[in-house]
Amino acid sequence: MNEPTVDVYLKPQQLTEALRDDVRIGLTSIPKWLPPKWFYDAHGSELFERITTLPEYYPTRTERELLQRFSGEIASLARPEVLVELGSGSSEKTRLLLDAALAEGTLHTYVPQDVSISALEDATQQIATEFPALTVHGVVSDFTESLHHLPGGGCRTIVFLGGTLGNMVPAERAEFLSGIANVLESGESLVLGVGLVTDTDTLVAAYDDRAGVTAEFDKNVLRVLNRELQADFVLDDFRHVAVWDPANEWIEMRLRATRDVEVDIRGLGMSVSFDAEEFVRTEISAKFTVDGIGSELVDAGFSVEKSWVDPDNRFALLCATAM
Ligand code: SAH
Ligand code: AVI
Repeated sequence: MNEPTVDVYLKPQQLTEALRDDVRIGLTSIPKWLPPKWFYDAHGSELFERITTLPEYYPTRTERELLQRFSGEIASLARPEVLVELGSGSSEKTRLLLDAALAEGTLHTYVPQDVSISALEDATQQIATEFPALTVHGVVSDFTESLHHLPGGGCRTIVFLGGTLGNMVPAERAEFLSGIANVLESGESLVLGVGLVTDTDTLVAAYDDRAGVTAEFDKNVLRVLNRELQADFVLDDFRHVAVWDPANEWIEMRLRATRDVEVDIRGLGMSVSFDAEEFVRTEISAKFTVDGIGSELVDAGFSVEKSWVDPDNRFALLCATAM
């Protein structure tokens, strides 16, 4: 086995600075909001893994089924030598693509990338052990800021699974997709997994499970603010809510104050008040149509090679090449 390497481009101090900026902006906006990347400290990454096993949370198992069926076809279309995965988390489903690309005989390097150091270090170690033929080169960075940090060394396929693209608002998404198209050489590929618009009950249940794991995940951002910015959020003062927004075609996760609340954020020297029922938006999770995301990819500078959809029309994989 090659010992895996991990490059850390986000030092704790930079992360704290970025968090301070986001909280200052987001919690003084109307309505209040916070970017979803702050869910993912070690505990948040663990909670996300628990979400992926919930009966209501269909995206992970649906995408896994698609990868089980079509990884061979994807590997023979993209022929990756270097497989770069953005927001790789536990890299659990990616093993299917790694197996297929190794069978194709092209792959030599896997580059998982994530903002969560704990998730990335665990996944890097495990993949290196399970795939001794691969060079595993982890990167800790923010995928909205630092695509230029990603190593080359062969024909690259960038993989972005789980529907994480849907956690960006449309303008961020467009910038992100054109950023990827610009980083790739002509003929290199993007493999994208996105959630599709489906019935409202199914969508809302996926983001508001009966066991309350998604609520815990949502409130984890308050724990991060309490720890990193010496805030005094009382988690029981907030209720997790998931709402389908049909105009924007996204699920919105919110933390709604159950009473009038005054929060002191000592590390920022500011206080924030919430009226009873006021909420902070903690995440959007946009859902797509295959045609819609196909057009976004074309607008960003890709040519869509092929797409695969599950039998219930809830999730899609797309393979696109940079032009
Ligand atoms: N791809 C995995 C994990 C999805 S969860 C799957 O399909 O199951 C989303 C992942 O993206 C988390 O691991 C989180 O830490 C990471 N992430 C969220 N925002 C990020 C950002 N701005 N930069 C890099 N990683 C990010
Ligand atoms: C990571 N991302 C694609 C998940 C989603 O479905 O939007 C995050 C999540 N939020 C609540 N449950 C899962």
